[in-house]
Amino acid sequence: MKKNNIQNILFIINFLILFAFTEFILWRSLSLKFLFNFSIIILPIWFLIVLFLLKKHKIFKLHSTNYLLSFILVIDIGIIFNIFSLKYFSYPAVTPIFSVIVITLMMDFYVGFLASIFFSFYFSFLIGNPLSTFVYLFIIGIIGAYFSKKLYSRVRIIIPFIISTLSQILLYFLFFEIDFLSWPIIVISNLFQMLFILGVLPYLEYITRVYSDIGLLELGNLNHPLLKKLSLSSSGTYYHSLIIANLVESAAESIGANPILLRVGSYFHDIGKSLRPLFFTENQKGLNPHDKINPKLSSLILNLHVSKGQELAKKYKLPILIEDLIVQHHGTRIKRFFYHKSMELNENLSADVFKYPGPIPQFKEAAILMIADNIEAMTRSMKIFSKKDLEDKFDNLIQDLFLEGQLDDCGLTLREINKIKNAMIETILNMNHSRIEYPEISKELLKEVNK
Ligand SMILES: [Fe+2]
Ligand SMILES: [Fe+2]
Repeated sequence: MKKNNIQNILFIINFLILFAFTEFILWRSLSLKFLFNFSIIILPIWFLIVLFLLKKHKIFKLHSTNYLLSFILVIDIGIIFNIFSLKYFSYPAVTPIFSVIVITLMMDFYVGFLASIFFSFYFSFLIGNPLSTFVYLFIIGIIGAYFSKKLYSRVRIIIPFIISTLSQILLYFLFFEIDFLSWPIIVISNLFQMLFILGVLPYLEYITRVYSDIGLLELGNLNHPLLKKLSLSSSGTYYHSLIIANLVESAAESIGANPILLRVGSYFHDIGKSLRPLFFTENQKGLNPHDKINPKLSSLILNLHVSKGQELAKKYKLPILIEDLIVQHHGTRIKRFFYHKSMELNENLSADVFKYPGPIPQFKEAAILMIADNIEAMTRSMKIFSKKDLEDKFDNLIQDLFLEGQLDDCGLTLREINKIKNAMIETILNMNHSRIEYPEISKELLKEVNK
């Protein structure tokens, strides 16, 4: 069965479950009007939202199962939670903040916006008084989503909670009635949902492998067992990954890509090297095991750092986008050194034997990592370099990547590549600057200064 058909069937099953759940919790026969609205309005809106998501976001298309699963899970949990609130408390307890904040944190503001539309439609038909209920819930949702953008720590979730709770109280008085018994219900219900977000977010991330920036930052604290293993077994690769993390961060910021995904992704991108560290130059101390084997075998061993890295990412449930960064950071590039070695030995092997398995970078962050990885390798051996040297190296690299077609699918524009170049060159010059040794100060001068 096609992937799309499976997804459609999943949606319909999900809807039937949601509908049955609504009926079951409320313990009453839902009116025919609700049934009509449910199938004629809510279901098509759901499909439109999903189609829009798949079209707008390339990463949604690439990992539709992970992203749609998290979207469905969060919306469903939010709806079921609120149906309970509706039954056991009262109407003011209904609030979209769980669904909207979690979806904004895991994906982005626009998806949070769509979640708010869907949630508001669902409850406006369920509660009745559709127009004012829709507008009321929708505005609270938008406020919640807007203030959840770019949240980097768990404690800051209190900001969207406070602002959306205050707006909800105000809007309730404005749209419905000035009833002073309802505001404590709104505060308690929102507080409960905020605490629920704090508790459930790490599990949702672990299950779906769609991580919020908060979850990514927690992974990137260098205490992860994979990073500890890398630092012990392959200190050269570990150091290489830290330098790349510095290079990619400012480059990502300069074009509006995700700097946190890139920084953390850089730590993990060569994690597969921890299994055979000595086959990689940065970990060699004199002895090179490639000297004793043929170039074809060397190429296969180098490919293994990508495939083993992917296996480790799956095993440790790393974010799905970090798995992509591991797989795509070499694209389908040829290992030139071993290809030349094979030609010198007259082995007559096709260039394909020396290519990395790929695929080529599929999104901007993967292309930035590929550029940084190559630039770091190029400048590693250089002791002194000028801005001009770096610009030449960079231009040559970009030209090669273009000719090889490595940047064809990533969506970077020439303007963005230029910004990435400037940001990376500045970072390299700054890092190099900090490496310059301080001149020795004579003891006489020190005495003079401290007088
Ligand atoms: Fe690599
Ligand atoms: Fe690397």
